[in-house]
Amino acid sequence: MTAREKLYEGKAKIVFAGDHPEELVLHFKDDTSAFDGEKMEQLAHKGEINNAFNAFIMEYLQREGVPTHYLRRMGPRESAVRRLDMIPVECVIRNRAAGSLSRRLGIEEGQILEPPVQELFLKNDALHDPMINHSHIRCFGWATDVEVDAMERWTRRINQLLVRLFSAAGLILVDFKLEFGRQGGELFLGDEFSPDGCRLWDARSLEKMDKDRFRRGLGGVVDAYLEVARRIGVPLD
Ligand code: TMP
Ligand code: ASP
Repeated sequence: MTAREKLYEGKAKIVFAGDHPEELVLHFKDDTSAFDGEKMEQLAHKGEINNAFNAFIMEYLQREGVPTHYLRRMGPRESAVRRLDMIPVECVIRNRAAGSLSRRLGIEEGQILEPPVQELFLKNDALHDPMINHSHIRCFGWATDVEVDAMERWTRRINQLLVRLFSAAGLILVDFKLEFGRQGGELFLGDEFSPDGCRLWDARSLEKMDKDRFRRGLGGVVDAYLEVARRIGVPLD
């Protein structure tokens, strides 16, 4: 077997060419970053856990009718996905105040946001992922109005589905970030869904069980990811 061609290396994943031109292989690394890559550490086994976690969530979303790029697991750290033309916009949805929303608007962490708040950010570490709006996206041609509308609607639908999944497991889904891309004129959910890109709190103790443990140096990062995976029923070998 020849080595796969490496196409791109991000902070948490490597993208390889797939077995078909329309496919890619995602490799989940142990590398864990925060503050746009300023803080970086390797956390043993995180890559395997996030690959299994992401596969479980993507399969659940697909069963519920969400178009995702996910195709199949290929190994402990690898999954095959559709090759997408990625839209450089991060779609965030928030059910509770935390993180940059609390900092920007002075809203106390934990305040319930009803209806959930939706925000858009440009995916650009050098610029620290600045917040953008529909008119920036239109003016700079990052996506069409139809695509932005679809991304925001899918983000709300995915939020409903994931709030249901996590609350049944005694977890509060505080917020999360999604990325979308296109293939053949259709929009698909891309990137990954894992505790690296969302906030999850234990519903009773409000303990943080996501990447905020790493951002804040709380320790027990991988153990928290494993506990979340166990509670929602992610099969881990
Ligand atoms: P924020 O509070 O830092 O704006 O982040 C909101 C949510 O989106 C949080 O769950 C983390 C996630 N997120 C990422 O995973 N990567 C990013 O680049 C950004 C801006 C947010
Ligand atoms: N994922 C981004 C980074 O690695 C932002 C974050 O999660 O804090 O810097």
